[in-house]
Amino acid sequence: MSEVPTVKLNNDKEMPILGFGVFQMSNGEAEESVLNAIKAGYRSIDTATSYGNEEAVGRAIAKSGVPREELFITSKLWIADASEEKAKVAVQRSLDKLGLDYLDLYLLHQPFGDAFGAWRGLETMYDEGKLKAIGISNFNNVQTYDLHYNARIKPMVNQIETHPFNQQNEAHKLFAELGIVHEGWAPFAEGAHDIFKNEVLGGIAEKYSKSIGQVILRWNVQRGVVAIPKSVKEERIKENFDVFDFELTDEDMQSIANLDAGLKTVDHTDPEFLKYLYNRTV
Ligand SMILES: NC(=O)c1ccc[n+]([C@@H]2O[C@H](COP(=O)([O-])OP(=O)(O)OC[C@H]3O[C@@H](n4cnc5c(N)ncnc54)[C@H](OP(=O)(O)O)[C@@H]3O)[C@@H](O)[C@H]2O)c1
Repeated sequence: MSEVPTVKLNNDKEMPILGFGVFQMSNGEAEESVLNAIKAGYRSIDTATSYGNEEAVGRAIAKSGVPREELFITSKLWIADASEEKAKVAVQRSLDKLGLDYLDLYLLHQPFGDAFGAWRGLETMYDEGKLKAIGISNFNNVQTYDLHYNARIKPMVNQIETHPFNQQNEAHKLFAELGIVHEGWAPFAEGAHDIFKNEVLGGIAEKYSKSIGQVILRWNVQRGVVAIPKSVKEERIKENFDVFDFELTDEDMQSIANLDAGLKTVDHTDPEFLKYLYNRTV
């Protein structure tokens, strides 16, 4: 594993606390950006069936020359495959597209469809060694507890929207109690709410001669949340990785804590959003 600090999953597997996300990237962008990210030092890459770029990510991994065991590769099951039998086929499809024998982490992308059946499918693939860790994404606290309670193999990670304007403190507490690692998607709120112009974040950034993006990622690292920023720009890819040489004070952490406003980029409780998900062609 590279020098990125890691968190330990409930099966003792180590997961880098900072990774690289490839949502909303074309195949060309994904291949180039993943290569740049690995060159910059990232060892964890987060893709998904629904991103349509697993093959491109696989090509970048192969080209990178970094030994497979040093990488931590995540993909996700789309809801069209949310049943026990389909999930097993879908995992193999992801592996084939990525050109890998195993994935480090595979997530149920959404808490919809036959999620319990799909979870059993992931458990089987975990038993077979094709998945080294399994988890969930976008499960709310009740859904998370329910799956944790009923599952033979307990979810190891829940990847949920997490940024300074939506800090997910209740989820964080629950996950800690259940031994689930909190992974945050959209650490920059996908650029919404003028996050890169925020005065509080800007003031802290200035103090350390860092950027707002770096302060946000450092805040995640210090609260033990795995962050997976996305960028297609090489300079930003490097910048977003350069967060291990400074430390926020308790006062800085409190100032950022005060920014929490529960602002979501998407609402998983809105039936219109579910309609949109089911109508997506993946
Ligand atoms: N499980 C889920 O349902 C789910 C949902 C969403 C995302 N995710 C995962 O989380 C990852 C990250 O989330 P995200 O891609 O939605 O959004 P994000 O990382 O919060 O924000 C990405 C945006 O910020 C810009 N950006 C990146 N670094 C910057 C910097 N240093 N300064 C200024 N702007 C910067 C990017 O532009 P450029 O690319 O032009 O630099 C892009 O517009 C995804 O790629 C995906 O892997 C998962």
